[in-house]
Amino acid sequence: MDKAVEYFEPAAPIPRNTPPSGLDVVRVTMRNPLELWGEPSYNEPVIQARFFGQHLTIANHPGLVRHVLVDNAARYGMQPVRQLVLKPILREGLLTAEGENWKRSRKAMAPVFTPRHARGFAQQMLAQSVAFADRLEEDASRASEINASALMTQLTYEVLAETLFSGGIARSDGDLGELIDNLLKTMGRVDPMDLIQAPRWIPRLLRLRGLKTLRGFRDMVSRTMDQRKAEIASGKQVPDDFLTLLLGLEGEAGLNRNEIEDNILTFIGAGHETTARALGWTLYCLAGSPHFRSLVEEEIDRVLATGADPVEWLDLMPHVRSAFEEAMRLYPPASNIGRAPLEDDSWTDENGKRYDLPAGEAVVVLPWVLHRHNLYWENPRQYRPERFLPGAREKIGRFQYLPFGAGPRICIGATFALQEAAIALATLLGRFRFDMTENTRPWPVQRLTVQPAGGLPMRISHRH
Ligand code: HEM
Repeated sequence: MDKAVEYFEPAAPIPRNTPPSGLDVVRVTMRNPLELWGEPSYNEPVIQARFFGQHLTIANHPGLVRHVLVDNAARYGMQPVRQLVLKPILREGLLTAEGENWKRSRKAMAPVFTPRHARGFAQQMLAQSVAFADRLEEDASRASEINASALMTQLTYEVLAETLFSGGIARSDGDLGELIDNLLKTMGRVDPMDLIQAPRWIPRLLRLRGLKTLRGFRDMVSRTMDQRKAEIASGKQVPDDFLTLLLGLEGEAGLNRNEIEDNILTFIGAGHETTARALGWTLYCLAGSPHFRSLVEEEIDRVLATGADPVEWLDLMPHVRSAFEEAMRLYPPASNIGRAPLEDDSWTDENGKRYDLPAGEAVVVLPWVLHRHNLYWENPRQYRPERFLPGAREKIGRFQYLPFGAGPRICIGATFALQEAAIALATLLGRFRFDMTENTRPWPVQRLTVQPAGGLPMRISHRH
């Protein structure tokens, strides 16, 4: 690390010295779970506590993380509260499926997510990024203030719509991006009734409001599937996108029609908001780190001047990749990876201390906490992308940095997301500079992803 450089410490809650009490726990949990975690969470390898009457284990120790996510993964289910929120929306999609259904779906879908297919999407990613940058020209000429967070949502949505359906979603009314946002805001949230584990017959008001949107959305996906199937049946040349690839899996050993629909919804839910948040936080962190941003800009200019294929950009631009990976360390889009043992389990640390992990009770890996943990990171609250440059990156332990999770349920879209990020960042930062203004005061809040409350107002201008 360079001693002469003043490193940026981006916005984050200061860890609590005392735990919140009584009603405050409910209030903070509903408002922003990131504000719950106290000093011990960032200093201890394992925390065990009672939370809303439940036994909760926070796994920071690499051995325990590995035990839960990798070595004993088959003996763990998804954390019940997460399933309560997501399962009504995503049903048997890969993110929420469990047991044999998950096994069969993951196996069937593996060929769709090979690096070869991700590479096949590079040109579409580039075309969408360039078209998007073209639309920002005017704002950049006027050095306008834009909401970088909302813009990144738009960009990743456009990339996904193109790679999923080649843009051909059967849209009857309204904007699909808006529909998804609505869905996530209403259904994709922990309802206070879930938190206190109220019986299922008590209505979850937040979720009821989202049901109508969900039905409309499913109809739209279903019509798009029918349309494509008819095109395939008539022998028409169809695009080689996710939709065609998924429809090709329909049948005995693959997926049934409902599962294909569930997975399309899952890719939209899991793949667009996550990448958008990571991109937005990267722009913000780079704006606070002029020294590293210059290195990123030089690298992009150098690589683009060679005319290299966008498929190669991720490998050819280690500074771009490090900027993105370090932003995901500080702001992991998925900040909670929750499990529960199917049967009573235990784990013993290197000093012989045994931790009981009762059946059905939560064991959570919190990338937000783990990525800022004082035992594993130097100056954890500072943005130092140098940690991820070749030569330094190899020293980062496999189980201390988990933006995409680990083990059999590791993110299936990780290669896709990293490639998309490199192409989007190189396209945008090759042309524009994003700076903070007096309004750039983002506050990270955990919803389904870690998002900046109030958006990310930034000034966009031309670099050249
Ligand atoms: C920066 C972007 C992304 C991040 C940070 C991210 C993060 C994650 C994490 C942490 C998990 C594991 C969850 C768990 O173990 O409980 C996961 C799973 C998953 N992700 Fe991603 N993801 C990203 C992009 C994508 C994209 C682009 C897609 C699809 C196009 C995608 C599809 C999925 C699916 C289907 C799963 C479930 C896999 C399974 O359970 O077998 N993700 N993601």
